[in-house]
Amino acid sequence: MQDENFVEGFSKLNKQEKIDWLVSRYLARSQEARSLLERYWHTDKQVQSLHDGFIENTLTNYWLPYAVAPNFLINGQTYAVPMVTEESSVVAAAAKAAKFWYPFGGFRAQVMGKIKLGHIHFLFHGQREKLQHFFEQTRDEFLHRLKPFTENMEKRGGGILSVELEDWTHRLDHYYTLTFRFDTADSMGANFINTILEEWADYMEETYPSYGHPDEMKIIMRILSNHNPGCRVRVTVEAPEDALARKTGLTDYTHRFETAVKIAQVNPYRAVTHNKGIMNGIDAVVLATGNDFRAVEAGAHAFAASGGEYRSLSFVERENGKFVFGLEVPLAVGTVGGMTRLHPLAGLSMELLGNPDAGQLMQIIASVGLAQNFSAVHSLITEGIQTGHMRMHLNNILNQLGATPDEAEQLRLHFANRKAHVRAVKEALNRLRNKK
Ligand code: MEV
Repeated sequence: MQDENFVEGFSKLNKQEKIDWLVSRYLARSQEARSLLERYWHTDKQVQSLHDGFIENTLTNYWLPYAVAPNFLINGQTYAVPMVTEESSVVAAAAKAAKFWYPFGGFRAQVMGKIKLGHIHFLFHGQREKLQHFFEQTRDEFLHRLKPFTENMEKRGGGILSVELEDWTHRLDHYYTLTFRFDTADSMGANFINTILEEWADYMEETYPSYGHPDEMKIIMRILSNHNPGCRVRVTVEAPEDALARKTGLTDYTHRFETAVKIAQVNPYRAVTHNKGIMNGIDAVVLATGNDFRAVEAGAHAFAASGGEYRSLSFVERENGKFVFGLEVPLAVGTVGGMTRLHPLAGLSMELLGNPDAGQLMQIIASVGLAQNFSAVHSLITEGIQTGHMRMHLNNILNQLGATPDEAEQLRLHFANRKAHVRAVKEALNRLRNKK
């Protein structure tokens, strides 16, 4: 039974018709809702039409702040890194960590590999040897038939690196995969990978009947994997322990820090929050550069759990008076194709970063992830996160409470060294108003 809010052909309505329909069904404050949606339309019609085209059923734009964190010294080069996030303390924390590590030589980052995976998932009901034979007999021919799809990627230094038959029947009856390893050069490569997999699967279905009964083989799915441990970057910062003790005023600073990270390595409850802090930084740069943050999130957490238990993505090493703090994380991102060029602000981000290649972007993103983690753990083992967080959040509270610019200025001064909880801000604002 369909109720009155079931709609057929919604996507075919124009934008105004869509809004009319929604307002009439779901939005009691109809005038307010209409004007809110319209206020977020871009004044430049061309830009708006670009946004309308990104997804289906666009009504308006959902704005998030676009900021930069300067002073990121990464492999000897100083970047102002673009970040998109709604969380108030994230950019401040990244910038603070970048400045902290600058005099120690900044971030040293290294791409560990750029291999991406994709699979054809299928069931096979015949003898394994027969399948192996079919695969070996057809592999080169299929690779050759795919040339029109791989040629361009090969010119850019990428392509299909290998194809293997994998037996998964110990986990699921009759289940096998063809596992493809790809290098997608500077693109994230999702379209390239999925096209190759779909074409190859078609060839399999077309060709198998001359090897065995067509019912023996059933293709189930052809899709890239977002678990790409082979597309990974490592980044570290390091400093003499005594220098850190002097800088922080804490003789046991590095011991506290190491212990906090060790806790995130052994306790999954802490590890998830610890890694969330890392992803605060990573996602913000991934978003600002038009990359797929859901893919990056999924891959990072899968990697964190790949040892059988969910663990910290970052690590600490202390040896011979030296403190090393590092992070290893898979990052399947691109600097060409997709949103990275389609969204004008993503294009601007690339320009800000000196038009990096995919490997350099991986290094920059991981550095911001490590910086974010550093700031979070630093706060947690010292003053706690609420002081800084609430200071940053104060503007939001003041806006919510309708403080005038003059009141806001006075309250910012008042809360410079105090915890700005909503209740405290409300009380201080009332006191200020009562004084007048
Ligand atoms: C908040 O968004 C992130 C932190 O909770 C991360 C952490 O606990 O390490 C501060």
